Amino acid sequence: MAESRQLRIGLIGFGLWGPHYARILAGTMGGARLAACAEPAAARLAAFERQYPAARAYADYNRLLRDGDVDAVIVATPTSTHREVVERCLKAGVHVLVEKPLAGTVADAEALAALEKEAGRVLMVGHTFLFNSAVRAIKGYIDEGLLGEIRYLYFTRTGLGPIRQDVNALWDLAPHDFSMLRYWLGTDPIDLVARGQSFLKPDTEDVVFVTLSYPDRVLASVHVSWLDPVKVRSVTVVGDRKMVVFDDTHPTEKLRIYDRGADYQPREGGFAEFIAAVRDGDIVIPRLDQREPLREQLEHFVDCIVTGRRPIASADDGVAIVKVLERAQRELRAASSSRLGMA
Ligand SMILES: NC(=O)c1ccc[n+]([C@@H]2O[C@H](COP(=O)([O-])OP(=O)(O)OC[C@H]3O[C@@H](n4cnc5c(N)ncnc54)[C@H](O)[C@@H]3O)[C@@H](O)[C@H]2O)c1
Repeated sequence: MAESRQLRIGLIGFGLWGPHYARILAGTMGGARLAACAEPAAARLAAFERQYPAARAYADYNRLLRDGDVDAVIVATPTSTHREVVERCLKAGVHVLVEKPLAGTVADAEALAALEKEAGRVLMVGHTFLFNSAVRAIKGYIDEGLLGEIRYLYFTRTGLGPIRQDVNALWDLAPHDFSMLRYWLGTDPIDLVARGQSFLKPDTEDVVFVTLSYPDRVLASVHVSWLDPVKVRSVTVVGDRKMVVFDDTHPTEKLRIYDRGADYQPREGGFAEFIAAVRDGDIVIPRLDQREPLREQLEHFVDCIVTGRRPIASADDGVAIVKVLERAQRELRAASSSRLGMA
């Protein structure tokens, strides 16, 4: 594609996560290139300028919007800033890919989704796991019926940090798991219970357990923690025909499909008597596409801008995830005040 037809992308926020976007955009992205960055921390902005001398650099993202000549931006700033930054960007007429979660409250997320429609620009949320080939493969297994009826799913996303200042472990980590649940099950939870504890800093839960109920008796459990000795990124999906385990820390063998199950069968010769029968069959490790999910996500964003297609991780999906987060947060606080009441 000719350089003049490439979309000019601005990056807002060059902290821990922003540099991954810069690397991909400055590399071999066909339809887009890194045009500018805004970052208020002087040392980080200087690091950006050293690494990407061809791009423009600003301390203030308002200047990037005014002078950067960009078609679209990626917002990789802390969650607490998303509402204000995304709103200004949409009002300035640029397309936006904002990191998860869309915003820090349902009211803010809904305001941004409404603004997207008014502005007629793409607003996509960085629910990166929807671009992960293992997650896509599981979606295929569920939709094709390979796993049978889904019974329950559980997610473990634990490790030692990184500990955030502006959100707790729920808002930091669980958006990934809630977005996978929504993508796979195609629906939102009908009920949930959440418990957590703030060990390091008051009112900032480092450890959270959420149990969610979905239609058709499907049960899910999400455990997130910054205070765990071992980095685990694992999901288990149990169907009545097969079961699958997704280990995102494994470099090559991320998925294992177990031909395993159990049910009750009539006892031979018995009257209305049943015995539990366990099926213990093969384990299959499927070959998966090794492409980087973040690159896939960026290419999808560019494609949506060019073609007008609705993003897979749309603003409405972003709102749905923030609704689950806010509900879980209410549960956490209600449980901790009732604990205080009992003390
Ligand atoms: N998809 C993923 O797997 C993933 C992983 C990590 C982080 N994230 C998300 O990315 C976002 C950023 O996370 P991080 O780990 O990079 O945080 P961070 O705190 O390391 O970096 C954020 C950067 O944004 C800058 N910033 C703050 N306000 C700004 C403003 N108004 N304009 C421009 N820059 C501003 C800060 O100075 C900082 O350098 C969060 O929403 C987080 O949830 C996503």
